[in-house]
Amino acid sequence: MNKWIIEDTKFEVNNVKETIFTLANGKIGVRGTHEELFEDETPGTYVAGVFDKSEAQVKELVNLPYFWGIRIYIDDEFLNPMHCEILEYKRFLNMKDGTLNRCLKIKDKKGRITTVKSVRFLSFKDRNLALLRYSVIPENYENKIHIEHFIDARTLNLKKTSVDKVKHYLIKNTKITDEFVYTEAHTRDLKYIVSIISTIVPNENILRRNLIDAIIQSHEFFPEKGKEVTIDVYTSVISSRDTDNLFEKNLNLLKSATNKGFYKLYEEHKKEIEKLWNISNIEIEGDEKADKALRFNIFVLLSMANPEDDKVSLAAKGLHGEGYKGHVFWDTEIYMLPFYIYSFPKAARAMLMYRYHTLKAAKENAKKNGYKGAQFAWESADTGDEETPKWGKDYYGNKVRIWTGDIEYHITADVALGVVEYLKATEDWNFFLNYGFEILLETARFWASRAEYSKEKDRYEINNVIGPDEFHEHVNNNFYTNFLARWNIIKAIEYLNIVKEKYPEIYSKIKKKVQITEDELNHWRDVINKLFIPWDKESKLIEQFEGYFMLEDKEIKEFDEKNMPKWPKGVDLSNLNKYQLIKQPDVIMAMFILPEEFDDETKKVNYEYYEKRTMHKSSLSPSIYAILGLSIGNHEKAYQHFMRTALVDLENNQENTEHGIHAASAGGTWQAAIFGFGGMKIKENKLEFKPWLPKHWKSMKFKVIFKKKLYSVCITKNNVKVTEKALF
Ligand code: BGC
Repeated sequence: MNKWIIEDTKFEVNNVKETIFTLANGKIGVRGTHEELFEDETPGTYVAGVFDKSEAQVKELVNLPYFWGIRIYIDDEFLNPMHCEILEYKRFLNMKDGTLNRCLKIKDKKGRITTVKSVRFLSFKDRNLALLRYSVIPENYENKIHIEHFIDARTLNLKKTSVDKVKHYLIKNTKITDEFVYTEAHTRDLKYIVSIISTIVPNENILRRNLIDAIIQSHEFFPEKGKEVTIDVYTSVISSRDTDNLFEKNLNLLKSATNKGFYKLYEEHKKEIEKLWNISNIEIEGDEKADKALRFNIFVLLSMANPEDDKVSLAAKGLHGEGYKGHVFWDTEIYMLPFYIYSFPKAARAMLMYRYHTLKAAKENAKKNGYKGAQFAWESADTGDEETPKWGKDYYGNKVRIWTGDIEYHITADVALGVVEYLKATEDWNFFLNYGFEILLETARFWASRAEYSKEKDRYEINNVIGPDEFHEHVNNNFYTNFLARWNIIKAIEYLNIVKEKYPEIYSKIKKKVQITEDELNHWRDVINKLFIPWDKESKLIEQFEGYFMLEDKEIKEFDEKNMPKWPKGVDLSNLNKYQLIKQPDVIMAMFILPEEFDDETKKVNYEYYEKRTMHKSSLSPSIYAILGLSIGNHEKAYQHFMRTALVDLENNQENTEHGIHAASAGGTWQAAIFGFGGMKIKENKLEFKPWLPKHWKSMKFKVIFKKKLYSVCITKNNVKVTEKALF
């Protein structure tokens, strides 16, 4: 079993595999459809940050023209592999060099045997470049062969839905010359322009056609029997997010790419991705399945980030599909950001800068809702405005109102947490003082205004919210929300004091900019002291929100063949508010985020209570139980949870991988490995490791960057070896 290879041995149309075999480089993402593009496939080509609304409920990441289409004709007759006998088939994702490879040997109805081979990649060096090499071998015949490359502009968002499908772009400015084909997709509402230029090498014997919805360039060959013929398709994609002079710029990019040639471009790309792997690869010895699954999740994380673009962030389904419409959630700061903080701080900074750039929208959002400070959108796209759809479907398929965009407030504290965690691990004061600090203050301000004072109880409350567990809507005093809100205000005051002492000039500047008065700070202090947190320190068991323990109790007793919980008998899935069953951790989530705030016994009591009631209906769930489980010594279950999260897409255990990758789960998998099994934490400003390895793991090796230094960590059963390495 090659630990770098994800293999596919069955030739078929399979929308789940399209997600798994997606290639992305932080800027462009292309789903792993076959080059021929078969009827039921769901092609997806996305450019980070290019959104449109048009007839959709909310803005969506636009599904752009698919530029990797290939068809073969023998004597002008289309060779459709779906109508042939499959003699050999293998497709594999090589995670090491980020290529998708396919080899297919087919026999058509006339007995002609053809082998076709392809390799494609999206460059990690020049993120606009997409390369495809396609070869054909006529094994037992000698006829004219056309290899046709097409850019298909018929793509739709949510193609397979009957009512929600939308065409988000119009094709304009197409140019067909002897050297290249060029086209632009103009998004209909938001007026983004995506420029696609493409050419075939070798560039002789090329027939070019421009059909209404597809631009085609095809190469004519007369090969001898058994002789391989090959074309390289060079494509460059840029957008109005990058530059104004789209045509000239893109033509130059294409020219410089063809001058370099396929091999050199591949080498350059490979060198870049290798640099990333040199830091981020984790090796688990003794468990091939876990080792490979973990690597796949890291590959996904590597594919999503672009440190050079700080106006986009990571979508919940990556650049891998249309689930959640390319929107950014708390998934970024809480689940994925730690991977980048400890592996690619520059990418982490860019993600936090996205929040800074959207601070204005967050402030408007707060104002619109009657609050002060900054309220980050539960789902955001390019501007940071609230993009959560108002309507969705429940588990029975009935239309229901979605309330998360209105009342799932905790994301505001989660963003603040991301800022503080980043600073702790990187000591990037430049970011903090210029940008992060303002986020911390404006979010604290939001919470202080969101908390309502109850005269009768002499306490502050945060009512009518949704916590991380989305089965329960409109609840009062959700533990996670209140706990994090208070933490947010405490940290803002703490850092105000630090900055005042260490950077007095910046302190005065920011105080002026944010306009914080002593009265306001006194109010913040009052909220800290009197914000109600539903935590009875005697019983240790924390109530998820006021009234949760009064709900009908149903424990999970049965699991399906993928080891996922089954709904307990008699549960009405259209009224989950009335049970204690939860979708994902909530109290446990707070313990995962701020572990030092809870003693071991409290963690244990709560873990045992809530674990039995967690349905893991979000892929964000199992990794947290893995980490918490390890911290309280529940090792066996922790391993099960780890495998659930690591295999979420490879085994499609949430049964929705076709809509895109579970990016938060990928980040959670990394965290479960490093913070869970590796037992890594920051203690007194230093990294500390208290590992526990499953019985069959011989060792786990990884690297992390902490305070601008690179550490290599090797954990075996009885030993932890940490070595400092040079960081280039
Ligand atoms: C989860 C949220 C998550 C969202 C996007 C939902 O199902 O409940 O916690 O942010 O998916 O991944």
